[in-house]
Amino acid sequence: MVEDVKLPLRQAKPDPEAVELRDLLESVFDRYGVDFRDYAYSSVKRRVMRRVLDEKTGTISALKEKVLADPLAMDRLQVELTIHVTAMFRDPGFFRAFREKVVPALKTYPFLRLWVAGCSTGEEVYSLAILLREEGLHDRCRIYATDVSDRVLSKAKAGIYPLSAMQEYTRNYQQAGGQHAFAEYYTADSDFAIFRPFLRDNVLFAAHNLAGDASFNEFNAIFCRNVMIYFNRSLQDRVHGLFHESLLMYGYLGLGRSETMRFSSHENYYEPIAVKERLYRKIK
Ligand SMILES: C[S@@+](CC[C@H](N)C(=O)[O-])C[C@H]1O[C@@H](n2cnc3c(N)ncnc32)[C@H](O)[C@@H]1O
Repeated sequence: MVEDVKLPLRQAKPDPEAVELRDLLESVFDRYGVDFRDYAYSSVKRRVMRRVLDEKTGTISALKEKVLADPLAMDRLQVELTIHVTAMFRDPGFFRAFREKVVPALKTYPFLRLWVAGCSTGEEVYSLAILLREEGLHDRCRIYATDVSDRVLSKAKAGIYPLSAMQEYTRNYQQAGGQHAFAEYYTADSDFAIFRPFLRDNVLFAAHNLAGDASFNEFNAIFCRNVMIYFNRSLQDRVHGLFHESLLMYGYLGLGRSETMRFSSHENYYEPIAVKERLYRKIK
């Protein structure tokens, strides 16, 4: 699947910090209920080592003591470990393929539920809302936009982004098959673009943790892009199980550019709709 994560303790070359790292992640889970235990090892380790450096603790074990004693240090660790990078119409080819290959099928349904899992600060959600509106589907849709982080969800609800990003987003929008002037969707206010509130009329923002929470509805389409890349194989399998259970038959699953269904535990339950764009349809 996304990353061939080998458990450190089974690596040919032993990693002396693996035990300390596991201990940190277990302690953080016990103390704060925040679960990074099944995130991709190499990426977690790199980021934890950055905290060791910035917090000047010298070792992972000392970082653990600091994080357990100081919620602000925990906050900083959490920010380091959750990557929120996103953009509007990110990978425009994905949205173009969705528009051309999925939307015609969605139009046959009287009511649609879509789930954007790991929506970060909301740029992907507004992109989807714009696309659905242009396709005449927005009124019969309910979009569930979830993320594990409350911090990003409150930004997503506000829908206010730097004006400086609009040039890139306009280009993405056009490449994604956008049909209007992108500037119609926001008002500019000094340094910010404030997206039009009607775009979130049918959007429900909520906290949901893919590492622990259950399915909460049935969906015609699920987007989970650039999220599972940070998970290890066993968490990826869990999330695929969750999505399979949550998708209606012939529902669609959209993954990120570096993520694929190939070799995943659920590969046989889907057929590719646009392989390069990581769009799949549930067939069993
Ligand atoms: C790199 S962003 C991707 C945003 C967007 N989907 C995109 O493709 O632009 C990854 C998001 O996944 C969220 N995330 C990480 N772990 C998660 C979990 N266990 N459950 C839900 N969301 C999670 C992060 O908070 C972050 O906002």
